[in-house]
Order: sequence, then C-alpha cells, then structure tokens
Amino acid sequence: PSIQVCLSVNGRRHELELDTRVSLLDCLREHLALTGTKKGCDQGACGACTVLVDGERVNSCLVLAAQCQEAEIATIEGLGEPGRAMREAFVRHDGLQCGYCTPGQICSAVAMLAEYDAGVPSAVGAAGLTDAEIRERLAGNLCRCGAYNGILAAVREAGR
Ligand code: FES
Repeated sequence: PSIQVCLSVNGRRHELELDTRVSLLDCLREHLALTGTKKGCDQGACGACTVLVDGERVNSCLVLAAQCQEAEIATIEGLGEPGRAMREAFVRHDGLQCGYCTPGQICSAVAMLAEYDAGVPSAVGAAGLTDAEIRERLAGNLCRCGAYNGILAAVREAGR
C-alpha cells in the first residue's frame, strides 16, 4: 500500500507517494537521488547507510521512511561546516581506500563529536576523547579496506 509521506531532508521538505515498506535508505537513494548514502548489508550490520535523524545516528536501512515524517534528516550531502571539516580531515589522513563506507563514517563521526560536545558522558570528561573511546563510539561503522588508523587520525583532528 502507498501513502503520502512528507520528509524534511537537509533542510528541504519533500512530499512523496511511497509504499509503506520503503526504508529511509531506499527513499533517500531512489526517490530523492541522494546517493551519497550507501547500501552495504541492508540489515543494520555495516553502518554504510548512516544518516542523522534529529541529530542522532541511525542506520537508514533499518527504519521506514514513513516513520521519519516528524524528524529532521541530514545526509552526507547536508552536514554543513562540520561535514566539510570532517571530509577534509579524512582526505588529509587517508581515512579511506575504496570510499564506500566514508559517507557513513563521516555522518557517524560528526554526530559522535556533537554528542560528545553536548556532554554525553565520557570516561575521560574534559580531557577529550581517547583513541579507544573514538574507536568504540564509531564501532558501528565498518571499513572493509581496514582504513581504521586513518579514520581515527581524521576524527581525532576534526575533534580538536
Ligand atoms: Fe544499513 Fe549496512 S546498509 S547497516
């Protein structure tokens, strides 16, 4: 069955006629042409599809587009200045190889730093995030090329 869905993505409102079963991921890629968000596993295991829903990291393959009508959605195309700074840090530190996981990594890292700035409890408090903490907080984003050291360096720099 189809329904009318109204989504706010990267600050723009979209009215769509969608099958109720369409995931947010498929909606972004196939209906809104926002193909920066990637599909890896399509079952919540890889993090390639990470977007921000009201500032929180979400695997967009695991939620229905119709569930997100009240929310503000941000994708890799719409992260603004924090996204730009993080992208540049990824390039500087070789935080990627094939690049497929990169949009999800960047969305996740930007939200993670915002959570940290907002005071989400940290084991080290004001001293800043440790490498182990950054790794743990980004554990939901897999990189099959194994560019983790570069990713860590990029996030460390962007988080300064
Ligand atoms: Fe959504 Fe892998 S595609 S977690």
